[in-house]
Amino acid sequence: MKIKTIIAVFGVLFSVNALADVTNAEKLVYKYTNIAQSVNPSFKAPSITDGKIFFNRKFQTASGREAACASCHTNNPANVGKNIVTNKEIPPLAPRVNTKRFTDIDKVEEEFTKHCNDILGADCAPAEKANFIAYLLTETKPTK
Ligand code: HEC
Repeated sequence: MKIKTIIAVFGVLFSVNALADVTNAEKLVYKYTNIAQSVNPSFKAPSITDGKIFFNRKFQTASGREAACASCHTNNPANVGKNIVTNKEIPPLAPRVNTKRFTDIDKVEEEFTKHCNDILGADCAPAEKANFIAYLLTETKPTK
């Protein structure tokens, strides 16, 4: 009986922790949504569908080859990715799988600017960033 109680308490602690860990990612979705709305009042809410399309969409890069966010981060952001340039492993982007993601706003902005420029030739728009993180928050299971 006591052991069950201890397990139950642990269960609650862990779920509270899991919630706390993605709070920052969720806050960033709101933050980018607010910026997007101030630029474009017709942007109502972040779209998970648009975020997923954006993640997988292939763009012609400056070097002439086609690449998508998924090229390195794989078509499932809950998976470990692989850098197509350096061949190095990339820990999963999905914040529910990798709780270190989207915790440091400066790093997030830096990586967005870098990767969006590499792939799109320009920084991503606030609406694209809001959609992107909203989509990543929905991916919880790595592909086996
Ligand atoms: C050439 C490979 C490559 C491509 C293509 C790529 N990324 Fe990345 N991405 C990386 C690497 C490497 C890291 C950082 C490694 C790490 O922190 O584990 C990273 C990390 C990030 C992060 C940091 C998240 C955090 O909080 O740690 C964001 C945001 C991101 N990428 C967005 C994008 C977006 C948006 C695209 C498509 C427009 C994209 N990436 C395409 C390789 C890539």
